[in-house]
Amino acid sequence: MNAPDLTTPSHPPAPTLPITVREGLDFGLDGDIPRHWFGGDAFKTRFFDAMSVLFPEGERFFIACVRDYKDQLHSPEQAQTMLDFAKQEAQHTKVHNAFNKRLAAQGIKVDKILANQRRHLFEHVRKHLSKRHTLALTAAAEHLTALMSHAFMQNRHHFDDADPRVRAMYVWHAVEEVEHKGVAFDVMQQVAHVGYLHRVWALVLVSLQFPLLVFQILNHMLKVDGYTRAQRWGIWLKGLWWLYKPGGLMGPLLWPYLAWYRPGFHPWDEQAPAEFQTWLGAMQRSGNPVTASNALQPHT
Ligand SMILES: [Fe+2]
Ligand SMILES: [Fe+2]
Repeated sequence: MNAPDLTTPSHPPAPTLPITVREGLDFGLDGDIPRHWFGGDAFKTRFFDAMSVLFPEGERFFIACVRDYKDQLHSPEQAQTMLDFAKQEAQHTKVHNAFNKRLAAQGIKVDKILANQRRHLFEHVRKHLSKRHTLALTAAAEHLTALMSHAFMQNRHHFDDADPRVRAMYVWHAVEEVEHKGVAFDVMQQVAHVGYLHRVWALVLVSLQFPLLVFQILNHMLKVDGYTRAQRWGIWLKGLWWLYKPGGLMGPLLWPYLAWYRPGFHPWDEQAPAEFQTWLGAMQRSGNPVTASNALQPHT
């Protein structure tokens, strides 16, 4: 008996959403945003700030790893999809770079973190691993961003206390991560023919590295904020409880996260949440990403 082919999805291609490139959005990030913009809470704020610092180089890496396959695509439509994916990620890089300037002005060592990350991703990972490896890592990281994006939109009540301008930046980013969540995966499966165990390995690796890196940067930020070691212990304990308690921020991520490990998984097995359409409608009416983000009602 032949072993099942675990590299081939067990179902027809899932429906996807159009990828819309939105340029020049104004979130009002140059306004008077409090240092701890997430309800005055240092841990919550710095958790998201740490991810913001990681996004620009990470997204440049994703674009490069997907574009490695640009000459092997199957159709002009797939080429256009890849281009739109790259344009969306480039916009994310641009907006987060602007946001990160605020963090640098607060004393956060943004340039040093970015230089380290650039060296790691482009001089080590991309130089020493094969293109199929780096594409698998990209698709795995895109799985994490997509499931965080779903949860971010569906659990709006977690973000009630966040500054509406910064929240709008993350909601916009989440919307676009959902729109292009299948792109790297499809190139990985259909063009690079990465097998099941290979993509499992990729997510295991990314799942270990990403939180560690975020927590490392978060701790640096808390030090810059001037908290003593004892104070930081308290902040960490409270913050980790906020993340991992039953009903906490991470809870809704578990099952969507594990779905990746199912043979035959595809990112579009999970449709876009209803809030996605709410945002699109409000954005179309207002043209303002802050208004669109505020249209997402908290479910309490
Ligand atoms: Fe992005
Ligand atoms: Fe992405």
